[in-house]
Amino acid sequence: MFRVVLVGVTLFAGVLAGRSPHANLVDQFQNSPDSSRFSSDVFEDARLDIESLIRKYQYPFEAHNVVTSDGYILTAHRIPHGRDRNNQPGPRPAVLVLHGLLSSSADFVTLGPGNALSYFLAEEGYDVWLLNARGNTFSRNHTIMDPDRRGDAEFWMYSWDEIGSLDLPAYIDYILETTGQEKVHYIGHSQGGTSFLVMSASRPEYNEKIISFLGLAPAAYFHNNENTFFLVMSPYERVLDALASQLGIGEVLGQSDILSFITFNFCRDGALTQPLCLLLFVNDQNADYFNSTMLPVFLGHAPAGAAFRQVLHYAQSIKFGTFSRYNFGTLQNLYIYGRVTPPPYDMSRVTVRTNLHYGLNDVEAHWRDILFLSEILPNARAIQAPRPSFTHYDFIWGIDAKEQVYETAIEMMREAERPLIIK
Ligand SMILES: *[C@@H]1O[C@H](CO)[C@@H](O)[C@H](O)[C@H]1NC(C)=O
Ligand SMILES: *[C@@H]1O[C@H](CO)[C@@H](O)[C@H](O)[C@H]1NC(C)=O
Repeated sequence: MFRVVLVGVTLFAGVLAGRSPHANLVDQFQNSPDSSRFSSDVFEDARLDIESLIRKYQYPFEAHNVVTSDGYILTAHRIPHGRDRNNQPGPRPAVLVLHGLLSSSADFVTLGPGNALSYFLAEEGYDVWLLNARGNTFSRNHTIMDPDRRGDAEFWMYSWDEIGSLDLPAYIDYILETTGQEKVHYIGHSQGGTSFLVMSASRPEYNEKIISFLGLAPAAYFHNNENTFFLVMSPYERVLDALASQLGIGEVLGQSDILSFITFNFCRDGALTQPLCLLLFVNDQNADYFNSTMLPVFLGHAPAGAAFRQVLHYAQSIKFGTFSRYNFGTLQNLYIYGRVTPPPYDMSRVTVRTNLHYGLNDVEAHWRDILFLSEILPNARAIQAPRPSFTHYDFIWGIDAKEQVYETAIEMMREAERPLIIK
């Protein structure tokens, strides 16, 4: 009771002193004894929504809605400053972070304080904006269409082409406006990187608004693809597209109670079925660097849904061996693009300062393909995660993600900021 009153009083005093609404939260944490690097309770973390999860670890949280030019209502989650360091509100460089296929902003917080990318960036003095692509758990809304109504099947008729050319510009404009900054950093994992390349190529004026682009295993070219799932389905992309339209299937693996129930009960520590979960949901994990105790947390927040066409668009990249716009089939391509095949994205337009991080054991985005990409981009270099067994999911879930990638990534960001300061 006394504590509650005390908190109330500090809050009131804080407001009077004109402090940030988050400041008392920071004070409160600094006086609490359990500021640990790890999750304090994996089952709790699995169940909490992202706002409660971030607040539980005493970080400031804001949600912002952004509407795209074609009416999608997106939600960005923001951690405007740090908790232990750089914890005073105020202007600071903004960094936008976009998740991979079937994922969400939660990817960058589930590893917990001391480990997850979001908290690390906030502590290092960045204003962190976790974006959510159209159609996932947090961006599943539209000004006129209802994603659940059969008559609005059009809602799901998009791929990462639209995420790159429409969602990202909307987010960037909104964030520049809100923060008063002139430029932002951008970090994209997997499809988050794909979408950035799409934006830079199709809306090149946005290159000017970016300080640096960090691609964590950005998937674009698949000349060396080893992912069996995509390999098997890619020849049938046209048939699957037609079939899905017929059946009214637009969405894949949206967050559902059944899925959460399964992962919660069968993937926990001590469950005999846990190895099966690893196999099913995290197919290429290196067991030594994957903390299976954390499975309920990771799978409590992923998958977060996507449009089936996002999957098909990757299948097309593999089938045709190009990084091109969506293939609608010959007739529709002629109508939409004025040519029988979809036009390739022009990588020479991606002039932004780029660092591509890759893992040697990545099955989804092969290191040879990342090297190829870094060679054709005008202003890029490729950086290998030192551990040879580093996988695609280690970028978000690996025990050593911070040491392997995040710490190097932030040095690159600082380096890119320097010329700005001199100016
Ligand atoms: C795995 O996660 C649990 C729960 O967060 C934590 O207590 C443990 O220290 C972690 N192990 C490693 C090796 O990171
Ligand atoms: C979707 O957006 C509309 C505004 O267009 C809003 O009224 C509604 O509450 C939103 N639905 C959800 C589930 O957020």
